[in-house]
Amino acid sequence: MSTRIYVPRETAAISVGADEVAIAIARCAKESGARVELVRNGSWGASWLEPLVEVVVGEQRIAYGNVTAADVPALFKAGFLDGGDHACRIGPTVEIPYLIRQDRWTFWRCGLVNPLSIDDFLAHQGFSAILKAIEMGPQAVIDAVKTSGLRGRGGAGFPAGIKWQTVADTASPQKYIACNADEGDSGTFSDRIMLESDPLGLVEGMLIAGFAVGASKGYIYLRSEYPLCHSILTRAITTAREAGWLGDNIQGTGFNFDIEVHLGAGSYVCGEETAMLESLEGKAGVIRYKPPLPAIAGLFGKPTVVNNVVTLASVPNIINLGADRYKGYGVNRSTGTLAFQLAGNIKRGGLVEKAFGISLRELIEDWGGGTATGRPIKAVQVGGPLGAYIPASQLDTVLDYEAFANIGAMIGHGGIVVFDDTADMAQQARFAMQFCALESCGKCTPCRIGSVRGVEVIDRIINDENRDENYELLLELCDTMEAASLCAMGGMTPYPVRSVLKYFAEDFASAEGSRK
Ligand SMILES: Cc1cc2nc3c(=O)[nH]c(=O)nc-3n(C[C@H](O)[C@H](O)[C@H](O)COP(=O)(O)O)c2cc1C
Ligand code: SF4
Repeated sequence: MSTRIYVPRETAAISVGADEVAIAIARCAKESGARVELVRNGSWGASWLEPLVEVVVGEQRIAYGNVTAADVPALFKAGFLDGGDHACRIGPTVEIPYLIRQDRWTFWRCGLVNPLSIDDFLAHQGFSAILKAIEMGPQAVIDAVKTSGLRGRGGAGFPAGIKWQTVADTASPQKYIACNADEGDSGTFSDRIMLESDPLGLVEGMLIAGFAVGASKGYIYLRSEYPLCHSILTRAITTAREAGWLGDNIQGTGFNFDIEVHLGAGSYVCGEETAMLESLEGKAGVIRYKPPLPAIAGLFGKPTVVNNVVTLASVPNIINLGADRYKGYGVNRSTGTLAFQLAGNIKRGGLVEKAFGISLRELIEDWGGGTATGRPIKAVQVGGPLGAYIPASQLDTVLDYEAFANIGAMIGHGGIVVFDDTADMAQQARFAMQFCALESCGKCTPCRIGSVRGVEVIDRIINDENRDENYELLLELCDTMEAASLCAMGGMTPYPVRSVLKYFAEDFASAEGSRK
């Protein structure tokens, strides 16, 4: 009998030594004559505990956190193959509070399974939802997604069911599913965790979308900065194809669908859906005018569903467990769950999937444990580089798309980046404009030129040159960018800038002039 040991093969875990831990375990097992079966799972999302090694003892998985290769000989001596005691021992995985208090709807297989094993996937309800969807028929599937209230998790929060209905209703011999895995927002990693830990979950979501709208081809647009993700995802897709879950006449059902992975080239704006479609077509990633909507004329001019990884991966359980059950989670028009990502200056960074309605404070304090430095929180940026900086006084804001809009903020892809009281918010405002200047696709003037002028004006304020006049000018520039930019890149860059002017104006007043 060999002992099964799980060691994550996920980017965050590997960055803190998971590969070396796996090698050390294999070596110690060989030296001690112990028989072990090493499984490289993905991550449970508790990044602060990585590498999180689990040993199967009886029916339980016993977790050991922050394991280093140097710990491994001592772990063997401590009898960790039998769940023995050691400073790294946390206890049964199913009892880790960070994990068990979550509402794992979409990420429930992450960490649990071997992401490259079809058998493991099938043993954990894999592909049961696509078979059920085929039995239900396309319109019933779209109706379920509509009833669930699922909104796009990539940023804009548009109802997925309405988008699917538009594509289904647009007659065309060819339609596409384009999965947006560009994940460019600062502090976000939920797409990556899904793709590295449960890639077949996304494959199943894309199959269901394809079946529902009548598409036979899917593309995944993956950021090039995720090489491990690329390798796991492409291997998982090949495995699914070999097992008859992709390609022609899937499992004898008559449904044809295949998936191709396309790597981006490091452009933030290529995450915007129309620039992504241009890039997928092999052109420069420049924004397209809308209309027509991609749902009517998208990839290669054909009706296309563009959805984020998490949006698509949320669908299989909506089919399996029911739209009403999904709708039971959340508040108001923010139904279901979101995989929040805790990052920046935070003690316990990682992924927390919770129903909407939880407050920022609960996430940051209860899950995140406050700042890593132990200093007071000054600001929190939610929703990526175009999101507003939220002051500590608004931490009780409930995570609900509309509640966030009411305070001039956005939830976006659910990335939460925490700053302590040493952060210089004037520099953060400057960074917003500079980021826009660097990443602008250049198609429209307010964004292309406005962002460059924005950096200059902020520099003048920081340098105390005609401060009042430049303040006015900056506000006017923000209004122009918001009103006249062609897409949200230029249109939302004013959000973080204005929030700094509104809540952290003292950082401009105290600027000493030479900080850039
Ligand atoms: C500048 C910019 C960057 C974006 N980057 C991403 C991204 O990296 N991933 C993503 O899913 N959506 C991104 N979006 C949102 C997409 O345009 C689009 O709304 C989304 O992919 C639709 O999928 P969803 O409805 O499932 O969210 C971005 C939007 C803008 C304006
Ligand atoms: S706002 Fe910026 S990114 Fe968007 S179209 Fe205009 S120049 Fe391009």
